[in-house]
Amino acid sequence: MSTPSHAHRLHRLRAAGVDLLLRERADGLPEWVHLGTDLGDDVVDLLRAGTPPVPNSGLDEPWPLTLLPTEADGWSGRPALQAHRGGQAVVPRWHAVVQGAPDGPGPGTLRVEATDEDAGVALVTELHLDGAGVLRVQHTLTNTGADVLDLAALLAVVPLPVEATETLDLTGRWCRERSPQRLPLVHGGRVRESRRGRTGHDATLLLLAGQAGFGFDHGELAAVHVAWSGDHVHLVDRLPEGAGRHAGVLGGGELLRAGEVRLGAGASYTGPPVLFTHAVDGLDGVSARLHDHVRARAAHPRSDRPVTLNVWEAVYFDHDHDRLAALVDVAARIGVERVVLDDGWFLGRRDDTAGLGDWEVDPQVWPGGLHPFADRVRGHGMQVGLWVEPEMVNVDSELVRAHPDWLLGARPGPDGSPGGTRSWRTQQVLDLTRTEAYDHVLARLDAVITAERPDYLKWDHNRDLHEALDADGAPAVHRQTLAAYRLMAELQVRHPGLEIESCSSGGARVDLGVLEHTQRVWASDCNDALERQSIQRWTAMLLPPELVGTHVGPPRSHTTGRVADLQLRCLTALFGHAGIEWDVTSCTDEELDRLTGWIALHKRLRPLLHHGRTVRTQEHDGAWAHGVVAPDRSHAVYAFVRLTTGADALPGLLRLPGLDAATRYRVRALDVTGATPLQVRGTGNALPPWCDDDGVTLTGGVLAGHGLPMPVLDPEAGLLIEVTALG
Ligand code: GLA
Repeated sequence: MSTPSHAHRLHRLRAAGVDLLLRERADGLPEWVHLGTDLGDDVVDLLRAGTPPVPNSGLDEPWPLTLLPTEADGWSGRPALQAHRGGQAVVPRWHAVVQGAPDGPGPGTLRVEATDEDAGVALVTELHLDGAGVLRVQHTLTNTGADVLDLAALLAVVPLPVEATETLDLTGRWCRERSPQRLPLVHGGRVRESRRGRTGHDATLLLLAGQAGFGFDHGELAAVHVAWSGDHVHLVDRLPEGAGRHAGVLGGGELLRAGEVRLGAGASYTGPPVLFTHAVDGLDGVSARLHDHVRARAAHPRSDRPVTLNVWEAVYFDHDHDRLAALVDVAARIGVERVVLDDGWFLGRRDDTAGLGDWEVDPQVWPGGLHPFADRVRGHGMQVGLWVEPEMVNVDSELVRAHPDWLLGARPGPDGSPGGTRSWRTQQVLDLTRTEAYDHVLARLDAVITAERPDYLKWDHNRDLHEALDADGAPAVHRQTLAAYRLMAELQVRHPGLEIESCSSGGARVDLGVLEHTQRVWASDCNDALERQSIQRWTAMLLPPELVGTHVGPPRSHTTGRVADLQLRCLTALFGHAGIEWDVTSCTDEELDRLTGWIALHKRLRPLLHHGRTVRTQEHDGAWAHGVVAPDRSHAVYAFVRLTTGADALPGLLRLPGLDAATRYRVRALDVTGATPLQVRGTGNALPPWCDDDGVTLTGGVLAGHGLPMPVLDPEAGLLIEVTALG
């Protein structure tokens, strides 16, 4: 919808309660008028009403927060565009047109085209608001001048309201990914940058800014995600004078190194898509929009997510056909649907010091090739998965011996020894920006996939990129990231149906850039159920459960040493793309029966878990709950988890969010491993009466408003609750 006068024309996108208003201007880029809650049909006087007064010691006139704010607009915060041409600042005076305003509410796209012939630049910005209320902003900058243009930054930013006084972002490390950090939002704002050449264990999946005290079910929030697996920045910038008519900006984009993007005449740079959303119903509201967005993508997997057995923690590098065959047989018996052969199958790969880059089946370990193993897996009706790490090499490999100069950052020694950067897990990075190296790894992987016909690749990336320089010494993360995406895409074109998991020392490559080419992420190498409760809770801010690998590990976690019982391990792994990472040949019959029961339950609940809306409750006195509610609210499943002991003797009432207030539901406590009677680890007369066989019948209003008394559980124990609407 547009108003008639050109200079003040308002362009608007409205969908799912999110409203975007941009004002086209006679000179310069369009101004951000609004991004937030739907303002209703009548916004006629908004422009005049919203024009701010002029403060002391400031610009003499109100100034507009534009699509690409810089000092030229009056913005003294981080400029959204930074560039120079041979040392001369490029500060465009844009002439812009906006196209594509839809007629009314609903998903839509605005396209802004802007040029400055004197400065020699052209900009195209696409703003797409989807049916979930998620805005995707993507800039392309073209050098229309004759000389090289050095681009230092091209960020997507949106306005932030004055009510946003707290931020939430995520950090992490190996085995403790996505740990929340909440801070007051003060002047100066908050910047999260990543220079790791991969997304990073500590990458903030989202940067959120919202009303004081926001929680899972309340508070107005804005969020940003940069869909990119290389260097990146997420930021909230807040200055005392505000940002035009707004209080500050929220934004993000690729982080460019000095000299990384040098555009010759006519060349363009396209930044990664940057996603923004807004919700008035708290963190769950943000996640609901993002999950809807993610699920609507063409690349989203739509088939049932197969229950997976990954052999890594069962055998590590000890690849032995008979041992693995026994594992496969047990996996089939308990209901597994996909078996993934992890690291260790290729040439010279007996440990993590050698072999990376030599993508050929090692005849010493697999004298008959992988076929006997793969045939056995397929013979049971299961799919075959294979681990690869295509972007990496060990210096001790045939590949590096033949091509020591193919390493990223390589500065070969005087004796011709391969250079590379500081070693990390005894790895160096293959320079995929080099055509011969890219073609080589594509050909090798293609040959392996053609010969072994895996249904699935677990695609790993086990180090940060340091000094990621190409053969000419130019910063290469941008091009290396695009090359990795291209490699994945090319293999999927050549092998239709091939699924890929994004793994990176656990969860260091979790973002919507890589998820355009992959069908699941490995959230963490930590299979400790207690740690996983938190890792999965926060990964779910962006990703719906079907994209997140969740495995039942052994009783004693290999990464933390903590012992957890099967109940908690199964309860935790239920809520994702579920699987097992445990030597199931070592299990007792009882454990196998319980795993069989768990897999059967997962398969029964999978349609709900993988299509429903994720809800979470705040941690209270050492316990929390999370659940998934069907889109039509006819069915839901919740986990109540006691993380630590509580100060209170009784856990109290748990309110079950997300149900329909008027509908009557049957509520049952379930054993996640199918055991009867229900087993919980608790004290005293642990179970309240509603946990008896048939459960209780209550309305959604009662369940959400009053709740149900929870059992008196031991720490690190949980309960599964199933809620079904009565016909
Ligand atoms: C990484 C992954 C693990 C496993 C190993 C194999 O650490 O995160 O899951 O695949 O590599 O070397």
